[in-house]
Amino acid sequence: MSGKVFTIAQQKGGVGKTTLAAHLAVAWAGQGMRVALLDIDPQGSMGEWLEARESHYGDAETGLSFRTASGWGARREARQLARDHDVVVIDTPPHAERETRPAMEAAGLVIVPVQPTPVDVWATEPIIEMAGSTDTPAILVLNRVPPRARLTEDMLQVMVELGAPIATARLGNRVAFAECLGSGRTVSETRPKSRAAEEVAALAQELFGAISD
Ligand SMILES: Nc1ncnc2c1ncn2[C@@H]1O[C@H](COP(=O)(O)OP(=O)(O)OP(=O)(O)O)[C@@H](O)[C@H]1O
Ligand SMILES: [Mg+2]
Repeated sequence: MSGKVFTIAQQKGGVGKTTLAAHLAVAWAGQGMRVALLDIDPQGSMGEWLEARESHYGDAETGLSFRTASGWGARREARQLARDHDVVVIDTPPHAERETRPAMEAAGLVIVPVQPTPVDVWATEPIIEMAGSTDTPAILVLNRVPPRARLTEDMLQVMVELGAPIATARLGNRVAFAECLGSGRTVSETRPKSRAAEEVAALAQELFGAISD
């Protein structure tokens, strides 16, 4: 049996793809799963995070496997990693259809982070279409949700029209999410009792249940 492959994708930059990839990977690894991270973004932020993680915990103690790939190599690498891992999480670059498509083809679920603003929601349609064209189910995840609910509720109405399911669990706009990555960790490690850590745990559980084998 091969592992579950999640591809985190969104054409828009800076919406939280890498943040989500790191947090979900650590959450699943924390449950005893063998987790691999695959970075196909030439910006290399995930690799930087992993290096910081190695400095913090020691090279052999990150709890994660890490690979990079580009173009069509991503599909092959993902399938190979899925043979000996329970979960593969793929982080993708923004504005890169050619890079992202093979990663979607290898995935059982495409996770699409969306910030609840009109501009972000408008930018989401192409990625949903791309997932559809690769026959991979996609799910929208609200990220950086502000404390005031009004705009988020309005945006949810618009997001429904994109035709993809929307995860019930969401991540708030919290400094803890930005802060923790610098030391190669996630909020469940830097602030295990925080609301942010609870949000991540709920999201990891919901998304794991949303993927088909
Ligand atoms: N829930 C959140 N709360 C607060 N800050 C956040 C949250 N999610 C992401 N950020 C911050 O937003 C910025 C962009 O996040 P991130 O790098 O994960 O986005 P990305 O989609 O991977 O960007 P790129 O498209 O450049 O790869 C970072 O500074 C990150 O710390
Ligand atoms: Mg990124």
